[in-house]
Amino acid sequence: MSLSQLNGKTYLIKTFGCQMNMHDSERVSGLLDSCGCLEVATPAEADIVVFMTCCVREAADTRLYGQCLSCKSLPAPPSGKRVIAVGGCIAQRDGEGLLTNLDNVDVVFGTHSIAHVGDLIAQAFDDGNHHVRCEEHEENPATTMPWHRATSYHAWVPIMTGCNNFCSYCIVPYVRGREKSRPFDEIVDEVTALSRMGVREVTLLGQNVNSYGRDLFGSPRFAELLRRVGDTGIERIFFTSSHPKDLLPETIDAMAEVPAVMPQLHLAVQSGSSRILKLMNRRYTRESYLDLIERVRDRIPDIALSTDIIVGFPGETEEDFEQTLSLAETVRYAQAYTFIYSKRPGTPAAEIDDPTPREVILDRFNRLVHVVETTANEFNQHDLHRVVPALIEGTSKKNASILMGKSAKNQTVHAPIPAGYSIDQLVGKIVDVDVDAARTWYLSGTVTGDPR
Ligand code: SAM
Ligand code: SF4
Ligand code: F3S
Repeated sequence: MSLSQLNGKTYLIKTFGCQMNMHDSERVSGLLDSCGCLEVATPAEADIVVFMTCCVREAADTRLYGQCLSCKSLPAPPSGKRVIAVGGCIAQRDGEGLLTNLDNVDVVFGTHSIAHVGDLIAQAFDDGNHHVRCEEHEENPATTMPWHRATSYHAWVPIMTGCNNFCSYCIVPYVRGREKSRPFDEIVDEVTALSRMGVREVTLLGQNVNSYGRDLFGSPRFAELLRRVGDTGIERIFFTSSHPKDLLPETIDAMAEVPAVMPQLHLAVQSGSSRILKLMNRRYTRESYLDLIERVRDRIPDIALSTDIIVGFPGETEEDFEQTLSLAETVRYAQAYTFIYSKRPGTPAAEIDDPTPREVILDRFNRLVHVVETTANEFNQHDLHRVVPALIEGTSKKNASILMGKSAKNQTVHAPIPAGYSIDQLVGKIVDVDVDAARTWYLSGTVTGDPR
Protein backbone atom coordinates (compact mmCIF):
# COMPACT_ATOMS: atom_id res chain seq x y z
CA MET A 1 0.00 0.00 0.00
CA SER A 2 1.35 3.46 -0.87
CA LEU A 3 0.73 6.64 1.11
CA SER A 4 -2.07 7.63 -1.29
CA GLN A 5 -4.01 4.54 -0.21
CA LEU A 6 -4.39 6.04 3.26
CA ASN A 7 -6.81 8.48 1.58
CA GLY A 8 -10.16 8.47 3.38
CA LYS A 9 -8.97 6.63 6.49
CA THR A 10 -10.00 8.10 9.84
CA TYR A 11 -7.49 8.78 12.62
CA LEU A 12 -7.17 9.83 16.25
CA ILE A 13 -3.98 10.91 18.06
CA LYS A 14 -3.71 10.69 21.86
CA THR A 15 -0.84 12.73 23.23
CA PHE A 16 0.87 12.41 26.62
CA GLY A 17 3.82 14.34 28.04
CA CYS A 18 5.34 17.70 27.27
CA GLN A 19 4.94 20.38 24.61
CA MET A 20 7.55 18.60 22.45
CA ASN A 21 5.17 15.69 22.11
CA MET A 22 2.23 18.03 21.46
CA HIS A 23 4.14 19.61 18.62
CA ASP A 24 5.27 16.23 17.25
CA SER A 25 1.60 15.20 17.26
CA GLU A 26 0.78 18.28 15.16
CA ARG A 27 3.32 17.03 12.61
CA VAL A 28 1.92 13.46 12.60
CA SER A 29 -1.54 14.95 12.16
CA GLY A 30 -0.29 17.19 9.33
CA LEU A 31 1.24 14.19 7.56
CA LEU A 32 -1.93 12.09 7.88
CA ASP A 33 -4.07 15.04 6.68
CA SER A 34 -1.81 15.42 3.65
CA CYS A 35 -2.49 11.74 2.83
CA GLY A 36 -6.23 12.47 2.81
CA CYS A 37 -6.96 11.04 6.28
CA LEU A 38 -9.73 12.52 8.41
CA GLU A 39 -9.44 13.29 12.12
CA VAL A 40 -12.21 11.85 14.36
CA ALA A 41 -13.09 12.33 18.01
CA THR A 42 -13.12 8.78 19.43
CA PRO A 43 -10.95 5.66 19.04
CA ALA A 44 -14.07 3.66 18.08
CA GLU A 45 -14.46 5.74 14.90
CA ALA A 46 -10.76 5.62 14.02
CA ASP A 47 -9.06 3.35 11.46
CA ILE A 48 -5.73 4.63 12.82
CA VAL A 49 -5.05 5.27 16.53
CA VAL A 50 -1.71 6.92 17.35
CA PHE A 51 -0.38 7.14 20.92
CA MET A 52 2.34 9.77 21.45
CA THR A 53 3.93 8.56 24.68
CA CYS A 54 5.94 9.94 27.60
CA CYS A 55 8.20 8.13 30.10
CA VAL A 56 9.49 11.00 32.20
CA ARG A 57 7.81 9.49 35.28
CA GLU A 58 6.49 5.98 35.95
CA ALA A 59 2.84 7.05 35.95
CA ALA A 60 3.11 8.20 32.33
CA ASP A 61 4.64 4.87 31.42
CA THR A 62 1.88 2.70 32.86
CA ARG A 63 -0.88 4.81 31.30
CA LEU A 64 0.06 3.61 27.80
CA TYR A 65 -0.62 -0.02 28.69
CA GLY A 66 -4.18 0.64 29.85
CA GLN A 67 -4.93 2.83 26.83
CA CYS A 68 -3.55 0.33 24.31
CA LEU A 69 -5.28 -2.64 25.89
CA SER A 70 -8.61 -0.79 25.96
CA CYS A 71 -8.41 -0.61 22.14
CA LYS A 72 -8.83 -4.41 22.08
CA SER A 73 -12.46 -4.16 23.14
CA LEU A 74 -13.41 -1.54 20.52
CA PRO A 75 -15.80 -2.46 17.71
CA ALA A 76 -14.23 -2.76 14.24
CA PRO A 77 -13.70 0.64 12.58
CA PRO A 78 -15.42 1.84 9.36
CA SER A 79 -12.75 0.36 7.07
CA GLY A 80 -12.82 -3.02 8.86
CA LYS A 81 -9.22 -2.90 10.12
CA ARG A 82 -7.64 -0.72 12.78
CA VAL A 83 -3.91 0.08 12.92
CA ILE A 84 -2.47 1.07 16.30
CA ALA A 85 0.75 3.10 16.22
CA VAL A 86 2.89 4.04 19.22
CA GLY A 87 5.30 6.97 18.92
CA GLY A 88 7.07 9.33 21.31
CA CYS A 89 9.50 8.65 24.13
CA ILE A 90 8.38 5.15 25.24
CA ALA A 91 8.59 4.03 21.61
CA GLN A 92 12.13 5.41 21.31
CA ARG A 93 13.16 3.77 24.60
CA ASP A 94 11.61 0.32 24.06
CA GLY A 95 11.61 -0.07 20.26
CA GLU A 96 10.56 -3.56 19.19
CA GLY A 97 10.49 -4.63 22.88
CA LEU A 98 7.24 -2.72 23.25
CA LEU A 99 5.48 -5.41 21.20
CA THR A 100 6.24 -8.07 23.84
CA ASN A 101 3.66 -6.68 26.26
CA LEU A 102 1.39 -4.93 23.76
CA ASP A 103 0.52 -7.50 21.13
CA ASN A 104 -2.20 -5.35 19.51
CA VAL A 105 0.29 -2.63 18.50
CA ASP A 106 1.06 -2.61 14.75
CA VAL A 107 3.53 0.26 14.38
CA VAL A 108 6.28 1.60 16.67
CA PHE A 109 8.04 4.80 15.61
CA GLY A 110 10.71 6.65 17.58
CA THR A 111 11.11 10.36 18.31
CA HIS A 112 13.51 10.83 15.36
CA SER A 113 11.42 8.82 12.87
CA ILE A 114 8.21 10.86 12.70
CA ALA A 115 8.63 11.53 8.97
CA HIS A 116 8.21 7.76 8.37
CA VAL A 117 4.97 7.24 10.26
CA GLY A 118 2.76 7.41 7.13
CA ASP A 119 4.77 4.70 5.33
CA LEU A 120 4.84 2.47 8.41
CA ILE A 121 1.06 2.72 8.88
CA ALA A 122 0.43 2.10 5.17
CA GLN A 123 2.62 -1.03 5.29
CA ALA A 124 0.78 -2.30 8.37
CA PHE A 125 -2.57 -1.94 6.58
CA ASP A 126 -1.09 -3.71 3.58
CA ASP A 127 0.57 -6.77 5.10
CA GLY A 128 -0.84 -6.95 8.64
CA ASN A 129 2.70 -7.22 10.05
CA HIS A 130 4.44 -5.20 12.77
CA HIS A 131 6.57 -2.30 11.55
CA VAL A 132 9.16 -0.69 13.81
CA ARG A 133 11.45 2.28 13.15
CA CYS A 134 13.37 3.76 16.08
CA GLU A 135 16.66 4.98 14.61
CA GLU A 136 18.94 7.24 16.64
CA HIS A 137 19.60 9.49 13.64
CA GLU A 138 17.32 10.25 10.71
CA GLU A 139 17.71 12.60 7.76
CA ASN A 140 14.33 14.34 7.89
CA PRO A 141 13.41 16.06 11.14
CA ALA A 142 9.74 16.46 12.07
CA THR A 143 10.00 20.18 11.27
CA THR A 144 10.24 19.38 7.55
CA MET A 145 6.79 17.77 7.60
CA PRO A 146 3.31 19.22 7.03
CA TRP A 147 1.86 20.83 10.14
CA HIS A 148 -1.68 20.69 11.52
CA ARG A 149 -1.81 23.39 14.20
CA ALA A 150 -4.23 22.89 17.08
CA THR A 151 -5.26 26.58 17.08
CA SER A 152 -5.21 29.52 14.66
CA TYR A 153 -3.80 32.03 17.16
CA HIS A 154 -0.94 30.14 18.86
CA ALA A 155 1.92 28.00 17.56
CA TRP A 156 4.55 25.81 19.23
CA VAL A 157 7.81 26.48 17.43
CA PRO A 158 10.59 23.99 18.22
CA ILE A 159 13.95 25.74 17.98
CA MET A 160 15.98 22.72 19.03
CA THR A 161 15.53 19.08 19.98
CA GLY A 162 17.35 16.82 22.43
CA CYS A 163 19.29 17.55 25.59
CA ASN A 164 22.98 17.37 26.58
CA ASN A 165 22.55 17.91 30.29
CA PHE A 166 22.02 14.41 31.69
CA CYS A 167 20.47 15.47 34.97
CA SER A 168 20.94 12.31 37.01
CA TYR A 169 17.20 11.57 37.44
CA CYS A 170 16.07 12.29 33.88
CA ILE A 171 15.32 9.96 30.97
CA VAL A 172 14.89 12.70 28.35
CA PRO A 173 18.46 12.76 26.94
CA TYR A 174 18.22 8.98 26.36
CA VAL A 175 14.97 9.20 24.38
CA ARG A 176 15.38 12.54 22.61
CA GLY A 177 19.09 12.38 21.75
CA ARG A 178 21.67 15.17 21.84
CA GLU A 179 20.93 18.89 21.34
CA LYS A 180 20.28 19.79 17.74
CA SER A 181 19.39 23.38 16.88
CA ARG A 182 17.24 24.30 13.90
CA PRO A 183 18.82 26.73 11.43
CA PHE A 184 18.46 30.34 12.63
CA ASP A 185 16.82 31.70 9.46
CA GLU A 186 14.44 28.74 9.24
CA ILE A 187 13.00 29.67 12.65
CA VAL A 188 12.79 33.38 11.86
CA ASP A 189 11.13 32.67 8.49
CA GLU A 190 8.68 30.27 10.12
CA VAL A 191 7.61 32.81 12.76
CA THR A 192 7.34 35.54 10.08
CA ALA A 193 5.06 33.28 8.03
CA LEU A 194 2.99 32.39 11.10
CA SER A 195 2.57 36.06 11.97
CA ARG A 196 1.47 36.86 8.40
CA MET A 197 -1.19 34.14 8.56
CA GLY A 198 -2.67 35.64 11.74
CA VAL A 199 -0.91 33.71 14.51
CA ARG A 200 -0.54 36.11 17.46
CA GLU A 201 1.55 34.12 19.90
CA VAL A 202 4.40 31.63 19.65
CA THR A 203 6.09 29.47 22.25
CA LEU A 204 9.69 28.68 21.33
CA LEU A 205 10.42 25.12 22.42
CA GLY A 206 13.48 23.21 23.53
CA GLN A 207 14.63 21.25 26.59
CA ASN A 208 17.16 24.04 27.20
CA VAL A 209 16.46 26.96 24.86
CA ASN A 210 19.33 28.95 26.42
CA SER A 211 21.87 26.80 24.67
CA TYR A 212 20.18 27.31 21.29
CA GLY A 213 22.81 27.55 18.55
CA ARG A 214 25.76 26.11 20.51
CA ASP A 215 25.97 23.14 18.11
CA LEU A 216 25.64 25.40 15.03
CA PHE A 217 27.80 28.38 15.94
CA GLY A 218 30.06 27.18 18.79
CA SER A 219 28.32 29.45 21.29
CA PRO A 220 24.65 30.03 22.18
CA ARG A 221 22.65 32.53 20.11
CA PHE A 222 19.34 32.50 21.98
CA ALA A 223 19.41 36.22 22.83
CA GLU A 224 19.96 37.09 19.16
CA LEU A 225 17.17 34.71 18.15
CA LEU A 226 14.76 36.37 20.60
CA ARG A 227 15.55 39.79 19.10
CA ARG A 228 15.07 38.57 15.51
CA VAL A 229 11.84 36.71 16.31
CA GLY A 230 10.70 39.87 18.12
CA ASP A 231 11.02 41.72 14.81
CA THR A 232 8.77 39.40 12.81
CA GLY A 233 5.50 41.10 13.75
CA ILE A 234 4.46 38.32 16.13
CA GLU A 235 2.72 39.93 19.13
CA ARG A 236 3.54 37.60 22.01
CA ILE A 237 6.57 35.36 22.50
CA PHE A 238 6.94 32.77 25.26
CA PHE A 239 9.70 30.17 25.52
CA THR A 240 10.39 27.02 27.53
CA SER A 241 12.48 25.52 29.12
CA SER A 242 15.45 27.47 30.41
CA HIS A 243 18.28 25.79 32.28
CA PRO A 244 19.54 28.16 35.02
CA LYS A 245 23.19 27.35 34.31
CA ASP A 246 22.85 28.69 30.75
CA LEU A 247 20.70 31.81 31.17
CA LEU A 248 23.08 34.53 29.93
CA PRO A 249 22.96 38.25 30.79
CA GLU A 250 22.34 39.09 27.12
CA THR A 251 19.23 36.87 27.17
CA ILE A 252 17.88 38.74 30.21
CA ASP A 253 18.59 42.00 28.34
CA ALA A 254 16.73 40.76 25.26
CA MET A 255 13.78 39.72 27.42
CA ALA A 256 13.68 43.17 29.00
CA GLU A 257 14.09 45.06 25.74
CA VAL A 258 12.03 43.16 23.14
CA PRO A 259 8.40 44.25 23.63
CA ALA A 260 6.95 41.01 22.19
CA VAL A 261 8.80 38.83 24.71
CA MET A 262 6.31 38.32 27.50
CA PRO A 263 7.31 38.95 31.14
CA GLN A 264 7.28 35.29 32.05
CA LEU A 265 10.17 32.91 32.71
CA HIS A 266 10.13 29.21 33.47
CA LEU A 267 13.37 28.44 35.29
CA ALA A 268 13.34 24.93 36.71
CA VAL A 269 15.16 24.81 40.05
CA GLN A 270 14.45 21.13 40.97
CA SER A 271 15.78 21.54 44.54
CA GLY A 272 16.79 24.31 46.93
CA SER A 273 19.64 22.29 48.43
CA SER A 274 23.08 22.69 46.83
CA ARG A 275 23.95 19.17 48.02
CA ILE A 276 20.99 17.66 46.17
CA LEU A 277 21.58 19.88 43.12
CA LYS A 278 25.08 18.40 42.90
CA LEU A 279 23.70 14.86 43.09
CA MET A 280 21.19 15.85 40.41
CA ASN A 281 24.05 17.07 38.18
CA ARG A 282 22.34 20.44 37.71
CA ARG A 283 25.61 22.43 37.75
CA TYR A 284 24.39 25.45 39.73
CA THR A 285 24.00 26.05 43.46
CA ARG A 286 21.19 27.44 45.59
CA GLU A 287 23.19 30.68 45.89
CA SER A 288 23.88 31.08 42.16
CA TYR A 289 20.22 30.37 41.36
CA LEU A 290 19.00 33.00 43.83
CA ASP A 291 21.54 35.45 42.45
CA LEU A 292 20.23 34.79 38.93
CA ILE A 293 16.65 35.43 40.08
CA GLU A 294 17.76 38.76 41.54
CA ARG A 295 19.40 39.76 38.26
CA VAL A 296 16.27 38.84 36.31
CA ARG A 297 14.06 40.84 38.70
CA ASP A 298 16.40 43.85 38.51
CA ARG A 299 15.76 44.03 34.76
CA ILE A 300 12.11 42.84 34.69
CA PRO A 301 10.57 43.68 38.08
CA ASP A 302 7.04 42.41 37.38
CA ILE A 303 8.15 39.10 35.83
CA ALA A 304 6.12 35.93 36.46
CA LEU A 305 8.55 33.20 37.48
CA SER A 306 7.61 29.56 37.26
CA THR A 307 9.59 26.43 38.04
CA ASP A 308 9.77 22.64 38.32
CA ILE A 309 10.60 21.06 41.68
CA ILE A 310 11.27 17.40 42.49
CA VAL A 311 10.50 16.17 46.02
CA GLY A 312 12.06 12.97 47.36
CA PHE A 313 15.20 12.72 45.25
CA PRO A 314 17.11 9.71 46.69
CA GLY A 315 18.81 10.69 49.94
CA GLU A 316 16.94 14.00 50.34
CA THR A 317 16.97 14.79 54.09
CA GLU A 318 14.54 16.95 56.02
CA GLU A 319 17.23 19.64 56.04
CA ASP A 320 17.60 19.47 52.23
CA PHE A 321 13.85 19.69 51.85
CA GLU A 322 13.63 22.70 54.15
CA GLN A 323 16.14 24.41 51.85
CA THR A 324 13.73 23.78 48.97
CA LEU A 325 10.82 25.19 50.99
CA SER A 326 12.78 28.29 51.94
CA LEU A 327 13.93 28.81 48.35
CA ALA A 328 10.32 28.65 47.12
CA GLU A 329 9.36 31.16 49.84
CA THR A 330 12.21 33.47 48.84
CA VAL A 331 11.57 33.39 45.08
CA ARG A 332 7.75 33.59 45.47
CA TYR A 333 6.93 31.70 42.27
CA ALA A 334 3.83 32.61 40.29
CA GLN A 335 3.53 28.94 39.40
CA ALA A 336 5.40 25.73 40.17
CA TYR A 337 5.10 22.21 38.79
CA THR A 338 5.86 19.93 41.71
CA PHE A 339 6.77 16.28 41.17
CA ILE A 340 7.49 13.35 43.42
CA TYR A 341 10.76 11.74 42.32
CA SER A 342 10.15 8.74 40.09
CA LYS A 343 12.91 6.19 39.56
CA ARG A 344 13.80 5.91 35.86
CA PRO A 345 15.76 2.72 35.10
CA GLY A 346 18.92 3.50 33.16
CA THR A 347 19.52 6.89 34.80
CA PRO A 348 22.34 7.33 37.39
CA ALA A 349 19.92 8.31 40.18
CA ALA A 350 18.12 4.97 39.82
CA GLU A 351 21.25 3.34 41.33
CA ILE A 352 21.01 5.35 44.57
CA ASP A 353 19.17 3.54 47.38
CA ASP A 354 16.68 5.60 49.33
CA PRO A 355 15.35 4.53 52.72
CA THR A 356 13.00 7.56 53.05
CA PRO A 357 9.46 6.30 53.77
CA ARG A 358 6.78 7.19 51.23
CA GLU A 359 4.67 9.00 53.89
CA VAL A 360 7.58 11.33 54.65
CA ILE A 361 7.94 12.21 50.96
CA LEU A 362 4.19 12.75 50.59
CA ASP A 363 4.17 15.01 53.64
CA ARG A 364 7.05 17.06 52.16
CA PHE A 365 5.21 17.26 48.85
CA ASN A 366 2.07 18.62 50.54
CA ARG A 367 4.07 21.19 52.50
CA LEU A 368 5.68 22.39 49.29
CA VAL A 369 2.33 22.60 47.48
CA HIS A 370 1.03 24.76 50.33
CA VAL A 371 3.94 27.22 49.95
CA VAL A 372 3.54 27.34 46.17
CA GLU A 373 -0.20 27.99 46.46
CA THR A 374 0.46 30.82 48.90
CA THR A 375 3.03 32.56 46.68
CA ALA A 376 0.93 32.02 43.52
CA ASN A 377 -2.04 33.67 45.25
CA GLU A 378 0.14 36.57 46.41
CA PHE A 379 1.45 37.01 42.88
CA ASN A 380 -2.05 37.27 41.45
CA GLN A 381 -3.08 39.87 44.06
CA HIS A 382 -0.78 42.39 42.30
CA ASP A 383 -3.24 42.43 39.40
CA LEU A 384 -6.37 42.99 41.49
CA HIS A 385 -8.17 46.17 40.22
CA ARG A 386 -5.83 46.40 37.25
CA VAL A 387 -6.82 46.08 33.59
CA VAL A 388 -5.14 42.96 32.22
CA PRO A 389 -5.05 42.12 28.48
CA ALA A 390 -5.79 38.43 27.79
CA LEU A 391 -5.59 36.35 24.62
CA ILE A 392 -8.82 34.36 24.52
CA GLU A 393 -8.47 30.58 24.17
CA GLY A 394 -12.06 29.42 24.80
CA THR A 395 -14.46 29.11 27.69
CA SER A 396 -13.93 28.10 31.30
CA LYS A 397 -14.14 24.31 31.72
CA LYS A 398 -16.84 24.72 34.37
CA ASN A 399 -19.01 27.40 32.75
CA ALA A 400 -19.54 27.90 29.01
CA SER A 401 -20.68 31.51 29.50
CA ILE A 402 -17.29 32.49 30.99
CA LEU A 403 -14.42 33.14 28.61
CA MET A 404 -10.91 31.92 29.41
CA GLY A 405 -7.77 33.66 28.24
CA LYS A 406 -4.09 33.98 29.08
CA SER A 407 -2.39 37.18 30.27
CA ALA A 408 1.08 38.32 29.25
CA LYS A 409 2.30 36.72 32.49
CA ASN A 410 0.64 33.43 31.52
CA GLN A 411 -2.08 33.79 34.17
CA THR A 412 -5.48 32.26 33.43
CA VAL A 413 -8.07 35.06 33.12
CA HIS A 414 -11.86 34.58 33.34
CA ALA A 415 -14.67 37.00 32.44
CA PRO A 416 -18.31 36.68 31.33
CA ILE A 417 -18.61 36.64 27.53
CA PRO A 418 -19.54 40.24 26.68
CA ALA A 419 -23.07 40.85 25.31
CA GLY A 420 -23.33 40.69 21.54
CA TYR A 421 -20.44 38.22 21.09
CA SER A 422 -20.24 34.46 20.75
CA ILE A 423 -17.16 32.60 21.98
CA ASP A 424 -16.31 31.63 18.39
CA GLN A 425 -16.00 35.32 17.49
CA LEU A 426 -13.71 35.91 20.46
CA VAL A 427 -11.24 33.00 20.34
CA GLY A 428 -7.86 34.37 19.22
CA LYS A 429 -8.79 37.97 20.10
CA ILE A 430 -7.18 40.02 22.86
CA VAL A 431 -9.54 41.67 25.37
CA ASP A 432 -8.89 43.96 28.33
CA VAL A 433 -10.23 42.48 31.55
CA ASP A 434 -10.89 44.74 34.55
CA VAL A 435 -9.85 42.35 37.33
CA ASP A 436 -12.12 42.27 40.39
CA ALA A 437 -10.99 38.94 41.91
CA ALA A 438 -7.55 37.36 42.14
CA ARG A 439 -7.45 33.69 43.13
CA THR A 440 -4.56 31.23 43.41
CA TRP A 441 -4.77 29.93 39.84
CA TYR A 442 -6.77 32.59 37.98
CA LEU A 443 -7.89 36.21 37.75
CA SER A 444 -11.48 37.17 37.01
CA GLY A 445 -13.29 40.34 36.05
CA THR A 446 -15.23 41.97 33.23
CA VAL A 447 -14.25 42.81 29.68
CA THR A 448 -13.82 46.52 28.99
CA GLY A 449 -13.61 47.98 25.48
CA ASP A 450 -13.65 46.09 22.21
CA PRO A 451 -11.85 42.84 21.42
CA ARG A 452 -8.89 43.33 19.06
N1 SAM B 1 14.40 20.37 30.26
C1 SAM B 1 13.50 20.89 31.21
C2 SAM B 1 14.25 21.60 32.29
O1 SAM B 1 15.32 21.18 32.69
O2 SAM B 1 13.69 22.60 32.76
C3 SAM B 1 12.66 19.83 31.86
C4 SAM B 1 12.03 18.84 31.04
S1 SAM B 1 11.28 17.52 31.92
C5 SAM B 1 10.34 16.98 30.60
C6 SAM B 1 10.08 18.30 32.97
C7 SAM B 1 10.29 18.10 34.41
O3 SAM B 1 10.04 16.77 34.79
C8 SAM B 1 11.69 18.35 34.95
O4 SAM B 1 12.01 19.70 35.08
C9 SAM B 1 11.67 17.64 36.28
O5 SAM B 1 11.21 18.49 37.30
C10 SAM B 1 10.64 16.54 36.04
N2 SAM B 1 11.27 15.22 36.03
C11 SAM B 1 12.17 14.75 35.16
N3 SAM B 1 12.56 13.51 35.51
C12 SAM B 1 11.89 13.19 36.65
C13 SAM B 1 11.87 12.06 37.51
N4 SAM B 1 12.63 11.00 37.29
N5 SAM B 1 11.03 12.09 38.58
C14 SAM B 1 10.25 13.16 38.82
N6 SAM B 1 10.23 14.26 38.05
C15 SAM B 1 11.05 14.28 36.97
FE1 SF4 C 1 16.01 16.39 31.73
FE2 SF4 C 1 17.86 17.95 32.75
FE3 SF4 C 1 17.64 17.76 30.12
FE4 SF4 C 1 15.76 19.03 31.49
S1 SF4 C 1 17.89 19.67 31.31
S2 SF4 C 1 15.44 17.50 29.88
S3 SF4 C 1 15.67 17.87 33.39
S4 SF4 C 1 18.26 16.13 31.50
FE1 F3S D 1 7.84 12.99 28.35
FE2 F3S D 1 9.43 12.77 26.31
FE3 F3S D 1 8.51 15.15 26.96
S1 F3S D 1 9.65 11.71 28.22
S2 F3S D 1 8.19 14.99 29.15
S3 F3S D 1 7.29 13.45 26.25
S4 F3S D 1 10.52 14.69 26.11
